[in-house]
Amino acid sequence: MINWRMDLEKICKRIKYDELLANHTSFRIGGPALAFVEVSDRHEIQKLAQESRNWGLSIVILGRGTNVLFEDSGYDGIIVKLAGEFKKIRFEENFVIAGTGVSLNKLSNECAKSGLSGLEFAYGIPGSVGGALIMNAGAHGNSISDVVRQIELIEENGKSTIISGEEAGFGYRKSELNRYFCVVEAKLKLEPKASTEIKDRMRELYSVRKNSQPLRELSAGCIFKNPPNDSAGRLIDSCGLKGKRIGDAKVSSKHANFIINKGSAKASDIYELIDLVKTEVKKRKGVELELELEIL
Ligand code: EPU
Repeated sequence: MINWRMDLEKICKRIKYDELLANHTSFRIGGPALAFVEVSDRHEIQKLAQESRNWGLSIVILGRGTNVLFEDSGYDGIIVKLAGEFKKIRFEENFVIAGTGVSLNKLSNECAKSGLSGLEFAYGIPGSVGGALIMNAGAHGNSISDVVRQIELIEENGKSTIISGEEAGFGYRKSELNRYFCVVEAKLKLEPKASTEIKDRMRELYSVRKNSQPLRELSAGCIFKNPPNDSAGRLIDSCGLKGKRIGDAKVSSKHANFIINKGSAKASDIYELIDLVKTEVKKRKGVELELELEIL
């Protein structure tokens, strides 16, 4: 039998076995992962891609855990967090080059400080740059695909590849980037503008978000994608489902497309509430809601 732990320990320095995923998700839900590792450079992630093909274990690259739900029984595989060089940002003229482990908020703030406009919409989106690329995160009519020019990826065989924004297959809250082992860096094209103007716009958009979304509660952001020309939140709300509760999982009374963990919700409470919402919206509005949340 392959001793994957021995191999893993040769590649990564920071490994925790049986780490509770509830500590790494915005829902604060999730049992232990077989192994939870932090990688700090390309060499480590490339070795991990190559070696892990022999282990027969599934591997998930976790961003900030803001759009995922893990089982209470945990995850029977390896969870990888990007640290070290993947948390760096640099500027080249009107481009920003960001590691995918950087938080979107930090990136948005740094761009504002440097007088570069284009990521104001992203301020307040709780995820990482990597997660934002894979999901094509967006808000207020913009999405990250608007500014992405290049993406560096690690393929399943460990090879590093650079693709253009057009090659990423971006659509509404989707991309084709999850075909690769890992997304490591992105180059975004921004426009010069006065920092004060950028920051004012960020504050304005953030206040819209604060007034309409339950930001102080434990959630995973919007649960469902918006159906074409409609809003999942509006549909769920008009079915009278705000406040609906199963165990400690509750449809937010502030924004109906958010499910919140009132404290000790189980993953099963969340699934059941998702099912109930889907069924009601289908029955009463004839609309099939599609999950934005990733269930692992
Ligand atoms: N609405 C209701 N009841 C609700 C929620 C919304 O009637 O409970 C109505 C609002 O009054 C408004 C319309 O529905 O007329 C749209 O609502 P909102 O402006 O809040 O936008 P949304 O379509 O619900 C989208 C994104 C959010 C993003 C906001 C702000 C999706 C699934 N949601 O929400 O993204 O923050 O716009 O731009 O695309 C996320 O992706 O996780 C997310 C939260």
